[in-house]
Amino acid sequence: MWCWAMFKQSSRSCARPSLVSHFRPYPSLMYGLVNKAIEELVTTGYGEEKWEAIKTKAGVDVEVFISNQGYSDEITYKLVGAASEVLGLTVREVLIAFGEHWVLKTALHGYGALMRSGGGSLKEFLINLPNFHTRVQMIYPQLQPPRFECLDVTDTSMSLHYHTRRPGLTDFVVGLVQGLGKLYHSPAAAEVVALKTEGADHDIFHVTWTLPAA
Ligand code: HEM
Repeated sequence: MWCWAMFKQSSRSCARPSLVSHFRPYPSLMYGLVNKAIEELVTTGYGEEKWEAIKTKAGVDVEVFISNQGYSDEITYKLVGAASEVLGLTVREVLIAFGEHWVLKTALHGYGALMRSGGGSLKEFLINLPNFHTRVQMIYPQLQPPRFECLDVTDTSMSLHYHTRRPGLTDFVVGLVQGLGKLYHSPAAAEVVALKTEGADHDIFHVTWTLPAA
């Protein structure tokens, strides 16, 4: 079965064997909203049967995920790992697709006003990102959010620093940035320049984007 220790290999093309099986891998809970979003991504793109197959492979016996209820991070990791196996995608591909889906479907449809409050352009949204989950916490008070910092900002690039206690979600951030680029008609890419799994203090991305046509 996939676990986060395998996820971390997906962020660079050179996969290495995991040395971290002794690590306590699932330190926290995530709101069910996250697993519901994975379910939606799978059922809309691949059908209900695939979702049932994914839950079975993951050993996840939850009929309906409740958005504002907490579930062990382990469930989310197992679902992503099983989705990769059942759908024949790499974990990196699943996480990137999930990041895009999170922005373009989950966030936009469910929390449109909140998303709009993030800014009128990709650059503005990213600059406001460090405060974004503070607003999300008004809806989900037990949230254990990531922390972002934006440095070296230009009109078409920045260095995005991603701090989290959760391992293995680097490619999710890549997908989130790509999704935001689509949202703002500013095609964007997030290139990994430092990884916590390779000894850095935290993950760092060089984010670039194209300005929308005037
Ligand atoms: C209205 C929009 C959003 C909502 C409602 C939301 C909510 C959440 C929730 C519920 C979690 C799971 C963590 C937990 O339950 O403790 C989460 C995690 C996360 N969110 Fe957001 N989020 C939103 C938008 C964004 C955006 C725009 C980004 C970045 C571009 C982002 C980045 C992340 C990341 C990377 C995680 C993974 C957790 C971690 O790294 O520790 N989110 N968010």
